[in-house]
Amino acid sequence: TTYPKGFPKDFLWGGATAANQVEGAWNVDGKGITTAEVVEKATDRKKMSMDAVTTDSIKAAVADPTDTRYPKRRGVDFYHHYKEDIKLFAEMGFKVYRFSIAWSRIFPKGDEQQPNEAGLAFYDRVIDELHRYGIKPLVTLSHYEMPINLTLTQNGWASRATIAAFNHFTETVFKRYKGKVPYWLTFNEINTGTWGFHETGAIDTTMSKHDQMQIRYQALHHQFVASAIATKQLHEIDPDAKIGSMLARMQTYPGTPNPVDVQAAQLEDEKNLFFTDVQARGEYPEVMNRFFADNDIEIKMAPDDQAILAKYPVDFISFSYYMTTVTKADAGEQVNGNMATGGRNPYLEESDWGWQIDPVGLRITLDEMWDRYRKPLFVVENGLGAVDQLTADHQVHDDYRIDYLRKHIQQMREAVADGVQLMGYTMWGPIDLISFSTSEMSKRYGFIYVDQDDAGKGSLKRLKKDSFYWYQKVIKTNGDDL
Ligand code: BG6
Repeated sequence: TTYPKGFPKDFLWGGATAANQVEGAWNVDGKGITTAEVVEKATDRKKMSMDAVTTDSIKAAVADPTDTRYPKRRGVDFYHHYKEDIKLFAEMGFKVYRFSIAWSRIFPKGDEQQPNEAGLAFYDRVIDELHRYGIKPLVTLSHYEMPINLTLTQNGWASRATIAAFNHFTETVFKRYKGKVPYWLTFNEINTGTWGFHETGAIDTTMSKHDQMQIRYQALHHQFVASAIATKQLHEIDPDAKIGSMLARMQTYPGTPNPVDVQAAQLEDEKNLFFTDVQARGEYPEVMNRFFADNDIEIKMAPDDQAILAKYPVDFISFSYYMTTVTKADAGEQVNGNMATGGRNPYLEESDWGWQIDPVGLRITLDEMWDRYRKPLFVVENGLGAVDQLTADHQVHDDYRIDYLRKHIQQMREAVADGVQLMGYTMWGPIDLISFSTSEMSKRYGFIYVDQDDAGKGSLKRLKKDSFYWYQKVIKTNGDDL
């Protein structure tokens, strides 16, 4: 017998972004304002900027016509630079580009009947430009934003009515881009809906912790149903296209071999995988039914919901991979990362934002996900947020980024050798963009440097970092020369 020694021939190498982190042009060509565009820059790098959002701060932001306080309103102006940016992606050899469609460009308030033609036309231009270079679009339908009107009138996904509004949007874009988008994702990092406002658009800051969890799991149920309906729509409208789920995968290691720690870690892991369980297997896992009962959480379902979930599971499974965590039955010292808290792992280094870096964890994750689901996997985010220094001669020597990516790709290759069916890899943030968690510009991920600072000042000029040439070589050799 033998096993794969490298990446498959048709492996999809590329990069991933989200509309609200790159596009800018937040109020151009009929676009409506979104949940991402009412969030200010974090004052503390170890905290999430959206944690400060309240109903009052939203109302004040909606009334503010400037972009100075809200970095996601300006992004890196991909809206006007998309040709230049896609040309650079093509120069690196991208096979695929993951981006999201802003619902509010198509339906500014989220629930109109007629779409905004100028918004649809923008994505026509982006998709056509990608095809000019033979780059396949991978489109996220909902990446951490929704029209703010739906938050203010429906409390976002807490309302069942949001399902119909969203599926009107998904039907509209599936029909418009039929035959041009081979891969779609429904909700970005759907599990983070348990963390707060950014994923579900539900504002619940004054509630007790229990009531917040109740409303968030209910909102997530509505997203599960909307995701299944979108799957049905896509298969009917564009039978050749495939649709996937998207999880922020955070493998949990037991803090010690003590069985109580192993059991606590197992439960923590089940709570992370729960979302993919529903979307890929089509039903709520029993262990979560117990968790809901024990925590007095009740999910209200319509009579057909379970049948819809069972009938329309996703075609493939995608996830982001940045870190792993550690769980002990007795929590102990917690790592103060801004995206996830958990125990500190003494074997790992962490980034300046407290994210524990674990390349081997990516192999463990891929092997386990493949064993559990037996559906094709896609790593749709992985990368290093760092402070880059621009030299006087306009270079960025980002060997730390190359090192990070190299180690993760090596482990991905091991997973392929283990037999994992892996579709592709879109590293996060091929071009510098506004950070999701802190809305900083200075937390940079890109192969391409963008001249803009945290205050939005700069020429927006694009420059190639050292990692640009390195990734070009990786793609050219299909991951053989790292
Ligand atoms: C993921 C998100 O959580 O991580 C992206 O899907 C985000 O939107 C990425 O940008 C990195 O996070 P951050 O906070 O460093 O931008």
